[in-house]
Amino acid sequence: MSSSASHFAAVHPNQDGDLALDLTAALKRAFGFEGFRAGQEAIVRDVLARRDVLALMPTGGGKSLCFQLPALLQAGVTLVVSPLIALMQDQVRQLTNNGIAATFINSSLDAAEIHRRTASLLRGGYKLLYLAPERLLLQEFLDNTVRSLEAGIGINAFVIDEAHCVSEWGHDFRTEYRQLARLRSRHPRVPMLAFTATATARVRADIIAQLSLRDPAVHVASFNRPNLFYRVKPKDKNTYRELLALAKGGGSGIVYCLSRKRVDELAGKLRANGVRAAAYHAGLDGATRHDAQDAFIRDDLQVIVATIAFGMGIDKPDVRWVVHYDLPRTLEGYYQESGRAGRDGDAAQCILYFGGADIRTAEFLIQQKVDPNGAALQDEQRIGRQQLRQVLQFADSTECRRAVQLRYFGEMFSGPCGACDNCCEPRTIEDWTVEARQFLSCIARLAQRRERFGAAYIIDILRGARTERLLSNGHDELSVYGIGKQRRTEDWRDLARAMLHQGLIEEAQDGYSVLSLNSRSWPVLRGEEPVRIARNAKSGRRSSATAGTSRPAGASRPGDTPRLDATPRLDATPTPDATPSVDDTLFERLRALRKRLADEHGLPPYVIFHDSTLRQMAGHRPLDLEQFAALPGVGQAKLARYGARFIAEIRAHGEGG
Ligand SMILES: Nc1ncnc2c1ncn2[C@@H]1O[C@H](COP(=O)(O)OP(=O)(O)OP(=O)(O)O)[C@@H](O)[C@H]1O
Ligand SMILES: [Mg+2]
Ligand SMILES: [Zn+2]
Repeated sequence: MSSSASHFAAVHPNQDGDLALDLTAALKRAFGFEGFRAGQEAIVRDVLARRDVLALMPTGGGKSLCFQLPALLQAGVTLVVSPLIALMQDQVRQLTNNGIAATFINSSLDAAEIHRRTASLLRGGYKLLYLAPERLLLQEFLDNTVRSLEAGIGINAFVIDEAHCVSEWGHDFRTEYRQLARLRSRHPRVPMLAFTATATARVRADIIAQLSLRDPAVHVASFNRPNLFYRVKPKDKNTYRELLALAKGGGSGIVYCLSRKRVDELAGKLRANGVRAAAYHAGLDGATRHDAQDAFIRDDLQVIVATIAFGMGIDKPDVRWVVHYDLPRTLEGYYQESGRAGRDGDAAQCILYFGGADIRTAEFLIQQKVDPNGAALQDEQRIGRQQLRQVLQFADSTECRRAVQLRYFGEMFSGPCGACDNCCEPRTIEDWTVEARQFLSCIARLAQRRERFGAAYIIDILRGARTERLLSNGHDELSVYGIGKQRRTEDWRDLARAMLHQGLIEEAQDGYSVLSLNSRSWPVLRGEEPVRIARNAKSGRRSSATAGTSRPAGASRPGDTPRLDATPRLDATPTPDATPSVDDTLFERLRALRKRLADEHGLPPYVIFHDSTLRQMAGHRPLDLEQFAALPGVGQAKLARYGARFIAEIRAHGEGG
């Protein structure tokens, strides 16, 4: 059996001793990539050996390639189940642009078009077909098309992409995914390949069971995203100005907010300040959302301000920064949302702004989890609090941000990573046990008098302030009055905030932010538990984010261009080590050409070439097709399609044209 649609020879993995060489050559020819990323080659081999596979890799890890490359190297067709039309379209667009025969069948097509594509499919016209599960499982489609395919050109594999949709424990459960096990009983000889970026053990077990995977080869890649720089910043009056500066520095960005109202406000403000930004949330109609997403993907919009409704289906690989303007709800959510940055493997930034008011908002939202009668949903509230606690611990931690996140996924990572604020600009840990006890005993004294106050008032007592309110309350008679004079008000505020974050005191939720003791306060009061808080060195050390160019430990990905500035420069193009000095004007010129070509062909610019390819181009300035073919990201099809245009641009630039 051989397919007319493929210009790649089939390989026979068991007979071919030089498979590794062949695979790398095929990878370059078809996709233009120089090498496999961590984990990819082993998966490709298992797929070629026709085993069932469960592969877990982080967002942007390169899962698609693991089934796309084998699809090209085998006779027959590979059927890919995907949950969203946008995802199918994006993948098919990228494949087609690489000269690979791929298509999708879904509800966006009319009956005649579906008929046409089905007929071509049966004749072997496609190497890959993308479908929604409900389409694939239509009785008629199963009985006619799928059966004929197996009997005819052959089915290499059923690929279940975003396989976590099968699990109720995942975040995107889809009932239709549950039915997919029917494929196994109807076509027992066809391997099933499941891919997901959701790492939890529970979801993993669920996928294997629900899809009836048969002795699957399980591949779990590291969830470390070495090219992302993580940073947590205090939320204060400078926050908006910082965001604006970040946006003005360039690069596509996503800003996440908790509520629709804030999304609208912030998007409006950014636009008023000259940023091409749009809002995205579930309150907008479908067309508006679609337009915003489309404009973002085509680089007509630079920034999307969104609620978490903006998520799956956003496979734009060159998002350079993700900002959480409000506290994320869960640490897993934070990992997924921030992970939309830098899917192309180039340096990108993730910034989380964190302020005390956010904690109150989050707790308020948790309290809204009630049944129709208004009674608290105890379990959900408990889980919500636990999740909030994890987020707070992450935000407040002085430990490597990567280490905290990866531990959440059960992965051990010992910092320093060289690409997070805590590793690059460590804060000092100070012992504030004495002051913490003074603070707590002040709350305790007040409690004895059945009184409760907020942090500012407690600090006044400790510092011996002579305010009218304090004196008229008679609080100058408390034994704790004035015992904390030696510390500044700001220092006390830092301590109060840290104790709140560490859960050592409680803040009331009834509109007054009064403080009270909880069970964790007592060991501190009794002197059994020390209190340590992290403090920023003042004098602008934290803003001069120019730590050295160390690489995150154990964070290299084979096949990546070896470069990662500890702090990605967003104002200009970072210079890759391997590239001779990049000519910025030429790079901008090539970007402009890419945008023109993209608009001509109705494609997103990244589908033509990634930024990293353009950067290499601007560095090496290839003047003929042979030199051009050697660039990473240039495969056969793209060479033929775009090589001449880009070479002409480079020549014109050289001649000062
Ligand atoms: N070996 C490689 N070398 C260079 N780039 C690669 C390689 N493999 C994949 N990529 C690129 O990595 C990016 C992400 O790949 P892909 O879309 O397959 O990620 P994914 O693992 O499916 O992520 P998600 O979970 O978000 O769907 C793509 O832009 C792709 O072109
Ligand atoms: Mg994917
Ligand atoms: Zn770190």
